[in-house]
Amino acid sequence: MSSELKGRGGSGFPTGLNWKLTAEDQSDKKYVICNADEGEPGTFKDREILSEVPYKVLTAMAVCAHVIGSQKGFIYLRGEYKFLVPELTKVIDEFEHCCKEAGLNFKVKIFLGSGDYICGEETALFESMEGKRGEPRNKPPYPTSFGYLEKATVVNNVETLAHAFTIFKYGAKKFYDLGVQYSRGSKLFSVSGDTPKPDIYELELGMSLQDFVAEFGDGNTKAVQVRGASGFLVPHKRFEKTTIGYRGKLTGISLPTGGSMILFNSSRSTYNVLGNYLDFFRE
Ligand SMILES: Cc1cc2nc3c(=O)[nH]c(=O)nc-3n(C[C@H](O)[C@H](O)[C@H](O)COP(=O)(O)O)c2cc1C
Repeated sequence: MSSELKGRGGSGFPTGLNWKLTAEDQSDKKYVICNADEGEPGTFKDREILSEVPYKVLTAMAVCAHVIGSQKGFIYLRGEYKFLVPELTKVIDEFEHCCKEAGLNFKVKIFLGSGDYICGEETALFESMEGKRGEPRNKPPYPTSFGYLEKATVVNNVETLAHAFTIFKYGAKKFYDLGVQYSRGSKLFSVSGDTPKPDIYELELGMSLQDFVAEFGDGNTKAVQVRGASGFLVPHKRFEKTTIGYRGKLTGISLPTGGSMILFNSSRSTYNVLGNYLDFFRE
């Protein structure tokens, strides 16, 4: 059975298909890259995963490497997360040792970004790792055949890899049974803004924004910014018909998200909120 895991970095591309296409490519070298750039305003869940359960991410990278035929992985770490490097390096050393003992030839290196938002986009990320200006490439060709150093590459978000680990451990069905059609499984949400309980939460996909606001709002929520600055500002009147997931249903709208959920109450000026996002993009 398939888990129907889709990329948790925001694109929602089927993870199994990503790995399959890369496995089928004829590149002489292949790479696995964990995208830990986490630059979208309002998201802070990848930092938590890498701090608390880095072994899940590393294990999934090793399995992916085995599946696609790669010996080399990278963690592309957001520049502002430099403080994670010493602990991560320690965990990677231990992990590589375990791989060696298990007869697996797989090495992982940390590549520290320089704080540029666009470098979270997978092809700009390759450019950045290759020492060039971090700008997106035209697609196609896609990373599954033409990625880092022009070789077939899997790029996965930190959370996607953590879910892959859970699927290997507990089976595809457990994951598939959560969520709704087209949007299976659970997802981490970074909840911030006008909420009495800002934090990171793991929730099933497919919930309506109405239910989300009932749980996390302060009783006066006027809009929710779903998917950070590059996402959607959903006004109160659309809460009921908007669900959080990867594909529209016949009625209403379904919004994909990398997990950034910022609540605004009626004390906020929408004009100022939008101005803030424009400043962010201009910068
Ligand atoms: C402007 C821009 C910024 C992005 N930033 C990130 C990021 O910080 N982290 C991330 O995982 N994906 C980011 N993405 C999505 C990646 O390009 C890519 O789709 C993702 O890493 C693939 O992993 P997934 O399939 O596991 O989601 C960004 C995309 C765009 C267009």
